[in-house]
Amino acid sequence: MAPGRRRPLLLLLWAALCVGPGLAVDRSNFKTCEQSGFCRRQRAIPPGRSPYRALLDSLQLLPDAARIQLLNEATKVPLMLELRGLRGNITRIRITELNPPRPRFEVPDVLMDEIPAEPLEVLGRDGDTLELSLGPGGPHRLLVTGSPFRMDLLRGRRLLCSVNARGLLVFEHQRQRPHSLMDIGGWVGRAWDKISALFHRDPPQDAPQDPPSENGATNEDGATGGADEKPPDNEEEPGAWEETFKTHTDSKPYGPMSVGLDFSLPGFEHVYGIPEHAESLRLRSTQGGDPYRLYNLDVFQYELHTPMALYGSVPLLWAHGPPGTLGIFWLNAAETWVDIGSNTAGKTLLGKLLDYMQGGGETPQTDVRWMSENGVLDVFLLLGPAPHDVARQYGTLTGTQALPPLFSLGYHQSRWNYRDEEDVLAVERGFDRAAVPLDVLWLDIEHAHGKRYFTWDPTHFPHPRDMLRRLADKKRKMVSIVDPHIKVDPDYRVHNELRARGFYVKTKDGSDYEGWCWPGSTAYPDFTNPEMREWWASMFAYDQYEGSTETLFTWNDMNEPSVFSGPEVTMHKDARHRGGWEHRDLHNLYGLYVQMATAEGQIRRSGGRQRPFVLSRAFFAGSQRYGAVWTGDNAAEWGHLRISIPMCLSFALAALSFCGADVGGFFQNPDTELLVRWYQAGAFQPFFRAHAHLDTVRREPWLFGEEVAGLIRHAVRRRYALLPFWYTAFYRSHRHALPVMRPLWMEFPEDTATFAMDDQYMLDRALLVHPVTEQGARGVHVYLPGKDEVWYDVDSHQQHVAPQTLYVPVTLSSVPVFQRGGTVVPRQERPRRSTECMRGDPYTLHVALSPQGTAEGDLFLDDGESFAYDTERRFLHRRFSFANGTLTASSADPQGSFPSSSWLERVVILGAPKPSSVLLRPPGGPETPLHFQLEGPTLTLRKPGVPIGADWEIVLR
Ligand code: NOJ
Repeated sequence: MAPGRRRPLLLLLWAALCVGPGLAVDRSNFKTCEQSGFCRRQRAIPPGRSPYRALLDSLQLLPDAARIQLLNEATKVPLMLELRGLRGNITRIRITELNPPRPRFEVPDVLMDEIPAEPLEVLGRDGDTLELSLGPGGPHRLLVTGSPFRMDLLRGRRLLCSVNARGLLVFEHQRQRPHSLMDIGGWVGRAWDKISALFHRDPPQDAPQDPPSENGATNEDGATGGADEKPPDNEEEPGAWEETFKTHTDSKPYGPMSVGLDFSLPGFEHVYGIPEHAESLRLRSTQGGDPYRLYNLDVFQYELHTPMALYGSVPLLWAHGPPGTLGIFWLNAAETWVDIGSNTAGKTLLGKLLDYMQGGGETPQTDVRWMSENGVLDVFLLLGPAPHDVARQYGTLTGTQALPPLFSLGYHQSRWNYRDEEDVLAVERGFDRAAVPLDVLWLDIEHAHGKRYFTWDPTHFPHPRDMLRRLADKKRKMVSIVDPHIKVDPDYRVHNELRARGFYVKTKDGSDYEGWCWPGSTAYPDFTNPEMREWWASMFAYDQYEGSTETLFTWNDMNEPSVFSGPEVTMHKDARHRGGWEHRDLHNLYGLYVQMATAEGQIRRSGGRQRPFVLSRAFFAGSQRYGAVWTGDNAAEWGHLRISIPMCLSFALAALSFCGADVGGFFQNPDTELLVRWYQAGAFQPFFRAHAHLDTVRREPWLFGEEVAGLIRHAVRRRYALLPFWYTAFYRSHRHALPVMRPLWMEFPEDTATFAMDDQYMLDRALLVHPVTEQGARGVHVYLPGKDEVWYDVDSHQQHVAPQTLYVPVTLSSVPVFQRGGTVVPRQERPRRSTECMRGDPYTLHVALSPQGTAEGDLFLDDGESFAYDTERRFLHRRFSFANGTLTASSADPQGSFPSSSWLERVVILGAPKPSSVLLRPPGGPETPLHFQLEGPTLTLRKPGVPIGADWEIVLR
């Protein structure tokens, strides 16, 4: 708690509501699968007895899709299966009710423009199996089997993925609510009897009697499902029409409507993705435990290595292994659970056949099963074949990372809370005194008047514009928090307008939905309503958000949404949004919409010119288009420092490149070693912000003595020196959908040793980072991947041959980072106060040669803040390549131009033999000799002095 301030009453209340004793999460606040009706219902279904049949004769070939009816043999309810082969190796599978009494929710605003579909062709029919090509002449084919319904996707002769091979397709059709409990027991019971009968029918005589798998899963034909294969008895299943959790009752007016489907991935042993979980990069088998849950929640003091849901959800799973790389994008915004099983015994028949044909022993297989509470079944299979392809395929579907304003890649200083304007300015001066670069100061909820967002506390922040101007004079920015819960207060303009315009989320009975959050009683704007989002965006105009200026940016927190008084600390599922949709339909989208509307507001206030910066805690697929995300309320513990790497890597796989974790840890007080190590690690993660809880002691870098300040200074300066590299990597992410921070296997897809690694990673394709995350470490083991590759230690410049595991001794100032041979990394090495002060600074190129004596790299630069790079092509994209002893600078994109005054100050070449002379051929000018120096492995060329935007050559002789 900040000195001299009262601990806010609400915090205590929140703690009382949400926190059990000790520091661990209170699990009883959050549902297990067993406590979540549809998850329990679906998990109880024994595999191998699918009641679904594809009516192959109903096949309809449309110009862009194939349609086939599915029939649930138990209920006789027909479904429509729609298949599309989208350009670029994406297969879309949609299943909807053929005659829905009421439309089911289909996720809007996530997909980019419709991707052209290739015409599908029927290649043949063999008995009960139809063979379709997914695009003319392409390598992908789909086998659709009638009874039981299943699909097998092949690339050439290789089976990539089987769908419903375990018979776990679930599509709970809409039905009439029985009039009384008796009716429930009777009507649904009768329906259930039919389903039960089907599940319990004897397996066909000729079905192979495979042994059950470890998780009780069966083979495709439905041999035993393990000990407890009894389907749930509906009379014991009161959750179908009404569900109670703790003190909350969900009225469930539309009854059970869940969907689910299984995917078998032969040959794949490793799966990743589906953020957000505090989990290792490689997902674990969920056999014997809960599935991974995707349901945006405000989880107080989250624990590590659990499948529990956290603040954000992206239903995208990656599989990578010898067959290549594959993505499954499950487009559903309702509560979702994902089961993962490693499976050889329960492998599909086709998978076994494949093993046999390939003459090998058993290949591994991963089974994945998705279950969502509502909506339709809409799945995209991203067929790769390489990791970069899957990233691009997902980018085509949901968009790419917004290009951040340059300042936001600098260092951010936050805490809950900087007390007042004087405190803010003193901290800002402290950074100058300590000579630690700083771009942004942050204000948490206490800055607003009684937590009424868009206002300022009149006592502590009476002159916000002056404060912002003083920061801007020092070329620094500010971020203030704007949460989506609005204080219910008749004297608060924001509330009055929202209420008057009817923009709040409603209860099931039609009144404004109210809950409890930081300001006390709060209401929640309906961000799914485009008119409401327009209005929200208009609130960021300088005359609406009083005291704001163009250097004030935004933090959207608590947007899961967090409702302290709600079930699982969030909104009631039967709350109503625009169009009558229930909150359950779209829960995971709410946070995305908040960030979308806020980013739009920032763009508009600048007349469409300036790029926004918005940090969001909740997210969904597509959030990458709106800004940055972070991993929420971590703790000052070594485990939390370590987990920040896999968490950000799994965000990156979901296209959320702009990820960070609170440096220093949010809860508790780090000791100086942890603090320093966290700064060092954070400096190599995309979003670099220190943040701390109200109750922690102050921890600005200079408060722990000169040694610690020096170590932090060094870490932050390293970050700033690499900003040209970061910015270029973000441009690539924005343009080409490639993550900035990448798992090693994305760059070395064949190197099996990297598949489960998550204590080190790549930045773009050039730098390998292995931060020190163990207390008292004296050294770390760094794996240098690749065949016929070399790596250079960026500090000593020493060369190492790959593959190898290198023991790197460390001191408290070391951060093991290696540059890959064959790359060029641009840097700006003059220490400055902030990114804005670096504009026009000269560049240094670090050229690390491959064993063949070559290297390639690039540099993107523009004004760092506007959309002119896009609308007017005001940018420079330079390419640097080294071959045959010559370093050549040329344009990577001649369509761009930008008047940069920057020049080339130095070239550092690693791995070059000593030349006898070095010549510079500047544009149109005479060849001039360059001064050079070889020191150990480092050849330094001084002052080429050419403009950074010019074409030139440097020749080593
Ligand atoms: C929760 C956020 O995760 C945390 O970063 C913030 O400081 C508090 N809310 C208060 O706004």
